[in-house]
Amino acid sequence: MSEPVSTRLRGQFITLEGTEGVGKSTNLEKVCEELAALGIDYFCTREPGGTAVAEKLRQILLEPCAEQIHGITELLVVFAARAQHINNEIQPRLARGQWVVCDRFTDATFAYQGYARGVNLDYVEQLEQWVQQGLQPDLTILLDLDPALAMQRIAGRSKDRMEKEQLQFYQTVRDGYLQRAQQYSRFKIIDAGAPIDQVAQQMTECVRQFVKTVAGIGSDSA
Ligand code: TMP
Repeated sequence: MSEPVSTRLRGQFITLEGTEGVGKSTNLEKVCEELAALGIDYFCTREPGGTAVAEKLRQILLEPCAEQIHGITELLVVFAARAQHINNEIQPRLARGQWVVCDRFTDATFAYQGYARGVNLDYVEQLEQWVQQGLQPDLTILLDLDPALAMQRIAGRSKDRMEKEQLQFYQTVRDGYLQRAQQYSRFKIIDAGAPIDQVAQQMTECVRQFVKTVAGIGSDSA
């Protein structure tokens, strides 16, 4: 029997991105199901969050709050949570060969705090370099949908602080994501407006292709 992919390679880091209402949670499950089916040892986590301390910082970001929270404050809170998450969970797991699937990562910071809140992108880049020390996702799946449709999907839900933003904010978040997807080849864009089963199928295919590529690289260099 062939050796499982995950024992031959360093862990791969997969992130899932998109605005609210694109169906991230359901599709995250699809990614995990496919990795499990392929016999890959993975850990599923989220940002902001993923450790007890980082989850407390998440609450600060998301709980409705009477005081206005400045974009720079948001930026520092998400990177404080990220530092904790990377050092306590993500890096140790990748180092021992486990794959990590993360619901959002730094592309969200560029999109939300940078493009949408208007924080200088240089600040985001500086924190990225300082906190991540070169760590970048190997694959980023961007679920893309017109925010007007995405907003309709979440219309009935109770909303956290970020979800109370107006349509214009999400349009800028989406544009930010799409600009990053143009810049980095690790992005795969999936049309989240397609019928649910087609989106699920594309997710599965995207993960399969990625695993094939990684396994190919792994066996060539073995
Ligand atoms: P979610 O877990 O439902 O996607 O909610 C997380 C929220 O946090 C979402 O509104 C996006 C926001 N967020 C940022 O503003 N900056 C970040 O860096 C991250 C990771 C999330």
